[in-house]
Amino acid sequence: MSAGTALAAWYREQGRDLPWRRTRDPYAVLVSEVMLQQTQVARVVPRWETWMARWPTAAAVAREPVGEVLRAWVGLGYNRRAVRLWEACRVVAEHGWPDDLRELPGVGPYTAAAVGAFALGRDELPVDTNVARVLGRLGERPRGEAAVLGQALMDLGAMVCTARSPRCAECPLEDCRSRGAVPARPRSDVRRARFEDTDRWARGRVVAALAAGERLPDGLESGRLQRVLDGLARDGLVVLDASGLRLP
Ligand code: ADE
Repeated sequence: MSAGTALAAWYREQGRDLPWRRTRDPYAVLVSEVMLQQTQVARVVPRWETWMARWPTAAAVAREPVGEVLRAWVGLGYNRRAVRLWEACRVVAEHGWPDDLRELPGVGPYTAAAVGAFALGRDELPVDTNVARVLGRLGERPRGEAAVLGQALMDLGAMVCTARSPRCAECPLEDCRSRGAVPARPRSDVRRARFEDTDRWARGRVVAALAAGERLPDGLESGRLQRVLDGLARDGLVVLDASGLRLP
């Protein structure tokens, strides 16, 4: 059996049943892909469903002030992605979908390929870090429809061909050149910086507080708070005017 056939068969049996895989609406797929760039699948599922129920079309998003979209994004990380998504929806609502999806704000080669393959049936394989790792180990690109191949490779990378300890015994790709040859790597012991000490964390806390109508988070040293607020204002994520600090 060819690698492509084996992979497609495995995906039919073992692939994850995810809600954005049941639609070919490019807007719905775009929303899922932007959310999945920073947040785990299990956490994205309910957020994507809530989002789609509230804003079923790009035009519905485009009618909202960006602050509403930021409010709905709280907890999904990287607020700038929400602003880009809102901008992309405005472009689509006004001009329709461009042929080259990379013309949309926030859409790079990966997201363009994902929407192209999963929604539009194009022969463009979206290669994220999971897919790149699997293909690198396999040493070839299996043949097959890009949409099936892309989803299957993502699931294989997440469930079987994992970064640290691949489960080769469970893998459908029997002729993989790396089969059994990737040593399991224990998690590195090097202490990672605490997320709470990063400005990214502080930015998220400030936007969440404003979205909830709460006071700014306590415990941020004033120099750090100022730096974070300056950065958020520069990126258009908060507005400081006569009425105080607010979402745009
Ligand atoms: N990560 C990015 N895109 C994905 C998708 N379509 N399914 C599962 N995980 C993903």
